[in-house]
This record gives sequence, structure tokens and C-alpha cells, in this order.
Amino acid sequence: MQIVRSHEELARARRGLEGTLALVPTMGALHAGHLTLIEEARRRADRVAATIFVNPMQFGAGEDLDRYPRQEAEDARKLEDVGCDLLWMPTVEGIYPPGFATTVHVSGVSDRWEGQARPGHFDGVATVVAKLLLSVRPDIALFGEKDFQQLAVIRRMARDLDLPIEIGGVATVREPDGLALSSRNAYLTADERERAPSLHRALADARRSIVGGQPVADALGEARSDLLAAGFSRIDYVALVDAMSLEPVTEPVGAMRLIAAAVIGNTRLIDNLPVMVESR
Ligand code: PAJ
Repeated sequence: MQIVRSHEELARARRGLEGTLALVPTMGALHAGHLTLIEEARRRADRVAATIFVNPMQFGAGEDLDRYPRQEAEDARKLEDVGCDLLWMPTVEGIYPPGFATTVHVSGVSDRWEGQARPGHFDGVATVVAKLLLSVRPDIALFGEKDFQQLAVIRRMARDLDLPIEIGGVATVREPDGLALSSRNAYLTADERERAPSLHRALADARRSIVGGQPVADALGEARSDLLAAGFSRIDYVALVDAMSLEPVTEPVGAMRLIAAAVIGNTRLIDNLPVMVESR
């Protein structure tokens, strides 16, 4: 695996990659969820590139930019082991040189949920992903359904900017107890870690209720109570949304998503599940 840092090194390495290329952008602290994206990338293209860049633009004031886990050497080893061909680890100055003044803003699908709880977050994500895609020029880029709204925002951006790049989604990888793998799980104390799977359980229970015909508002209310009972201290949202627009759904029909964000201790966790209801 070739490791590059500057745009010049990247351009040279990119020219040396023959065949189709799949890109997996990450912020590092790699876990089995990230590595599943690399494995899927290998299935879908001849060559695989990954990026590791903890993107300051997508962190709000008071968020965890400074304490976000950084473990470059270990990450590089893991990527090499799963067959990644090229790793680009740009510097902050390389991505945002002095005078940098452009923002990619995707309206509509960015507005609610994570967009509301974390103002500016999706501008940071869309801007850096646009830059990474334009610099690497892959045929396909893969993102996790774990960050479902992020995936929707990136799909919208790629379509709107006519990027000649397929955007692929990969199902969420979970611990055996249901907790979605996340670099932020490292922040959980042993007690919080034990309680954290309640987030997935609350969504799974709500899905069962909704598919079984319970009114949506009741099912979401129960999910909120369950989260508070499990020790989550703040719930940013628990919602049933249309899988494409991410607008709230009151009459469940078609392809939907149950999405949630809640805080346990000092850690904010997000999760989501697909919900499908044939017309009744
Ligand atoms: P990061 O949180 O490092 O995630 C990198 C990719 O891994 C994202 O596409 C994310 O959805 C996916 N991922 C994370 N946990 C997963 C899991 N449990 N199962 C499957 N996929 C999972 O998301 C970002 O970085 C950044 O916002 C980024 C897109 C790199 C832009 O800075």
C-alpha cells in the first residue's frame, strides 16, 4: 500500500493506478465498520484508495475535534491487511490552505436532524468530500449507512454537481449486542458501554411496533422513554423519516428510516434502521 500526504504525491500515485478505482473516505480510528467498506470497495473496483483526514470544518465549537482518536500507524496497518492500495492522509493546510473560501452547502436534506443538532456540520462534510472526490477521481465512493443522513447529503451533492462518481452505501456493522461500531464508542465508560445498545434496541422495538400497526407517534414516544430509562441523558431526535428526503413520515408506507441521536455520559451516539411497509 502506498501512503501519500501531499496533492502532488497523490496525483503521481493516482496516475499509477490502473483499472477502476473505489474510494473510502474516513477520519481514521478505524474499526471493523470501516474495514467492511474497504472489503466492499475491493469487490466493486480493481483498485481501492482510502483517505484519513480528521476534518476540522465538520466539527462545531465545543465538539470533540481535539480529543478525536488519532492512530495513524495502526490504521495504515489495518488498511494494508484488508488490501487497500493507496492511502491519502492530507494535512489540514493541504486541504484548507490560507485564503480558502469555498463552502459546499446542500440544502433540504441537510436541514433537519444532524444538520439542526450540529449547525454547519454537513457544510463541512460536503465541502471536504467534494474536495476528496475531485482530487482522487474514483469511479465509485463508498459510505456507511451508519451515517444515513450524511450518505443522503453526499448522494444529493454528487447528483447536483454532476460528479461522474457512483456513490454507494454499505449496511451498518454492529457489535454482537447491537451497538453500531463507531470511533466514538472509545469514549464510553464500561457502564455506558453496557447501556449503549439500548439505542439500537429502542429503534428495533419501534420498528416492530410501527410495522405491526402501532401509531408512529406512540412508537417514537416509547423509544424515547426507553432511552431515558436506559440512562441516556439527552435525546436530540428519534424520528421516522422518508428514506430519500429524510422528511418526517406520519403515515408509514414505502421505504423509510428510523433515525436517532442521543447522549450518554459525555458521548453522543447516532443510529438508524431501515423500515419497509407495503401499502396497507
Ligand atoms: P468516519 O466517521 O471515519 O466514517 C468513515 C465511513 O465509515 C463513513 O462512510 C461512515 O458512515 C462509515 N462507518 C462508520 N461506522 C460504520 C459502521 N458501524 N458500519 C458501516 N460503516 C460505518 O463519516 C466520516 O468519517 C466523515 O464524515 C467523512 C465522510 C470521512 C468526511 O469527513
